[in-house]
Amino acid sequence: MRTIAIVNQKGGSGKTTTAVNLAATLAEAGKKVLLIDLDPQASASMWYGLKEKGKALYDVLTGEAGLETAIEKSSVDSLDLVPSSPLLAGVEKALANEVASETILKNKLFRLQQKPWDYLLIDCPPTLGILSLNALTTANEVLVPVEAHVMALHGLVQLLKTISLVKQRLNPDLEITGILPCRVDFRTKHSKEVLDQLRARFEGKVCQSVIRENIRLAEAPLHLKPITHYDSACNGSLDYRKLALELMGETPKTTSS
Ligand SMILES: Nc1ncnc2c1ncn2[C@@H]1O[C@H](COP(=O)(O)OP(=O)(O)OP(=O)(O)O)[C@@H](O)[C@H]1O
Ligand SMILES: [Mg+2]
Repeated sequence: MRTIAIVNQKGGSGKTTTAVNLAATLAEAGKKVLLIDLDPQASASMWYGLKEKGKALYDVLTGEAGLETAIEKSSVDSLDLVPSSPLLAGVEKALANEVASETILKNKLFRLQQKPWDYLLIDCPPTLGILSLNALTTANEVLVPVEAHVMALHGLVQLLKTISLVKQRLNPDLEITGILPCRVDFRTKHSKEVLDQLRARFEGKVCQSVIRENIRLAEAPLHLKPITHYDSACNGSLDYRKLALELMGETPKTTSS
């Protein structure tokens, strides 16, 4: 099973849009997928209409409950979901005095008897606290969605440093699978310039696939459907299918150190 954390401490960079729709396009391509929503905003869970089920994950992270108690079927074939809830905001506090609290999810996943999935995707909150650290400790790969806007590039160097530190101290297996340009608008010069800058500054780390600005992606959560079920032919569906193909065709091509 490949385990991919979708991380960027910058808010609104496209993490949830990527987690939800990459999960759906991987499933469409015949893969079995588990999506864990580790964000107290529970946006991925709401997208699939499962927000009210999110207490189970809180109990998994703060108590004795096994991960199997928190897994739900989604409306998409071959896609299971571990929903979140606003309760998860209390996890940092609840675990403040716990030893090795950043490895709880990894251990719960390890103890899970049945792991029928080909891919585990983890949607992270826009903070690098204990929840994101749990994701980075559980995952072997990191996908970093970045909004194609110059302001979005500033935090990227710091994020890559943090990932490198996590690799050194907590998870030697961690690799950066790719930086994913999101909300790219090829009609604007600015978007193209940012894309060029990204590719120049982070050579070899940027995905070949890009996710274009597409209003259908912003509409889909209102309909509780991934983009492929909401509008199978729109650019958003095409782009996330391309990304799924890119990920399936490749082992991680870069390391974070
Ligand atoms: N390619 C796209 N085209 C159009 N809108 C997009 C696209 N990607 C994301 N959005 C919109 O941008 C906003 C932020 O996206 P998203 O929620 O995926 O980011 P996030 O990184 O998960 O945010 P947060 O840090 O708050 O969890 C949303 O309103 C979403 O609908
Ligand atoms: Mg999000």
